[in-house]
Amino acid sequence: MILIAPSLLAADFTRIAEEVDDVRKAGADWLHYDVMDGVFVPNISMGLPVLESIRKGTDLFLDVHLMITEPIRYARRFCEAGADLVNIHIEADSAEHTLSALQEIRGMDRRCGVTLKPATDAEAVIPFLQTVDLILVMTVEPGFGGQHFMSDMLPKVRRIRELIQTSGRDIRLEVDGGVDPKTAPACIEAGADTLVAGSAVFRASNRKAAIDAIRGN
Ligand code: DX5
Ligand code: ZN
Repeated sequence: MILIAPSLLAADFTRIAEEVDDVRKAGADWLHYDVMDGVFVPNISMGLPVLESIRKGTDLFLDVHLMITEPIRYARRFCEAGADLVNIHIEADSAEHTLSALQEIRGMDRRCGVTLKPATDAEAVIPFLQTVDLILVMTVEPGFGGQHFMSDMLPKVRRIRELIQTSGRDIRLEVDGGVDPKTAPACIEAGADTLVAGSAVFRASNRKAAIDAIRGN
């Protein structure tokens, strides 16, 4: 089943609670929540208090994408703030620390994922295949919404789908960046089953139609 996760980054921040409720009613499966620290990526977005407030107002599954250095420092606190799944970047720390952070997230009964920047090879996920619930392939350089989809990431999506199949584990494969009704079919064809879409959902005049179109309905 294809899951659609609108990225809150493209929402109207003066009315966050209504925006979350609106995409839930429009058929969103998850809400994607981007955390940027101004170091790992050249931008700063939202952090713990906003996540806590959102958690109080919705039962939507919260997919938290940490674009921060050494995410092990904050993994536990994002779980406590209400994340259902915490995604950490493979490039943000050593493999050993990444594995410890993933285990900490699992230990708190949350799902965990690893994310790959465009320059990171598919094979980098191999040490984490036995631990993660999700792998996120960035289809733009992380840091900003509204960028163009990088179709040269599709072979990586395909390769990771193969690696997931050989692992024998149930791991979701997510794409993030520039996903819209035009680019989504190629992502799904390459093996993605979870699609993040910021601008294409929040900036659409009809959000339900946008979500349905991205899903391929
Ligand atoms: C970018 C973020 C994305 C972003 C996607 O660093 O990780 O989640 O919000 O936005 P769109 O869908 O507009 O490319
Ligand atoms: Zn994201």
